[in-house]
Amino acid sequence: MTFLVTGCAGFIGHSVSMALLEAGHRVVGVDSLNAYYSVTLKRLRLAQLLKSPAFEFHQLDLAAPDALMELPGRSEIDQVIHLAAQAGVRHSMDNPFPYVTSNVVGHLSVLEFCRRMPRRPKLIYASSSSVYGVSTQSVLTEDDVAGPPASLYAVTKQADELMSQAYSSLYGIEQIGLRFFTVYGPWGRPDMAYWIFTRKALAGEPLDVFNYGDMERDFTYIDDAVAGVLAVALAERDAIQVGDVHRIYNLGSGRAEPLHNLVDAVASATGRNVDIAHQPHQPGDVMRTCADISRLCADYGYAPKIGLNEGIGRFVDWYMSDEDLAGI
Ligand SMILES: NC(=O)c1ccc[n+]([C@@H]2O[C@H](COP(=O)([O-])OP(=O)(O)OC[C@H]3O[C@@H](n4cnc5c(N)ncnc54)[C@H](O)[C@@H]3O)[C@@H](O)[C@H]2O)c1
Repeated sequence: MTFLVTGCAGFIGHSVSMALLEAGHRVVGVDSLNAYYSVTLKRLRLAQLLKSPAFEFHQLDLAAPDALMELPGRSEIDQVIHLAAQAGVRHSMDNPFPYVTSNVVGHLSVLEFCRRMPRRPKLIYASSSSVYGVSTQSVLTEDDVAGPPASLYAVTKQADELMSQAYSSLYGIEQIGLRFFTVYGPWGRPDMAYWIFTRKALAGEPLDVFNYGDMERDFTYIDDAVAGVLAVALAERDAIQVGDVHRIYNLGSGRAEPLHNLVDAVASATGRNVDIAHQPHQPGDVMRTCADISRLCADYGYAPKIGLNEGIGRFVDWYMSDEDLAGI
């Protein structure tokens, strides 16, 4: 099959594209290569993908409405996996506009592309655990009513789900939204806690732990996240029922880990004694995320395999394998 993968130079997009290529598929990758974090890292990911003759890359901004409509070979695309976005909850406090242009206008561009293509490709898109907002539920199930949004990022992901629902109802576009829960691992994101903790632990600097460490996260190892995306993308018999063309799934590990478990895993994997600098709550952070993953397990055989200690161990091994990564 031929897949269009948006955000292919990003963390999840790169890993999903690699897995699709390894499975023998063709990938048309697009990304704006924006400078939210190291463009060098994005280019390194891209260089890996470009080793495959079944991969082609187009640098474009999804917020330009016609960018996808002018994509060479667009009529051959069987399925779209939309992973491009302006990510990062905290960054949205000081830089709100890219969230609306990339996440809302960009999502609309992808929906319009699917609507206008004669083959009406199936769309799998990234949502986020952030859509649950400030929730009082200990385990988050897909049908939970969202609490108040904790950030503009969360609002844009809620808007994406609503736009997708409207496009499915209006035009019958088959869609699956995946609510990712804190994905981490090799080739990851330098703005996320596991990367910052690792860099600081190795440099002998104290780790800033927000809300005095009183937070829990459902951490999803990248290989498990990729397995979830591919299970949905490559399913032979789709779980979608007639008349139910838009479905949403949690994609997490199904376990909530206290933040201190992440600190301990980083200390253990780096072999360093770490100092913790406790910090107050940061606006935008929610206290706890924990995914109910039973729907994805039942419908697509999803079965996460990698626990936090093993996953952080693999990340730290990767991080330490290339000394240039410390400068990113
Ligand atoms: N990583 C996580 O923990 C996590 C959790 C929840 C949801 N998500 C969602 O999963 C998706 C992938 O996240 P990621 O961690 O790989 O992020 P990432 O920032 O590493 O990748 C996103 C990529 O999209 C590209 N991009 C941004 N705006 C664009 C635009 N307007 N046009 C074209 N390309 C654009 C960026 O250059 C980047 O390479 C995003 O939708 C994100 O919101 C991620």
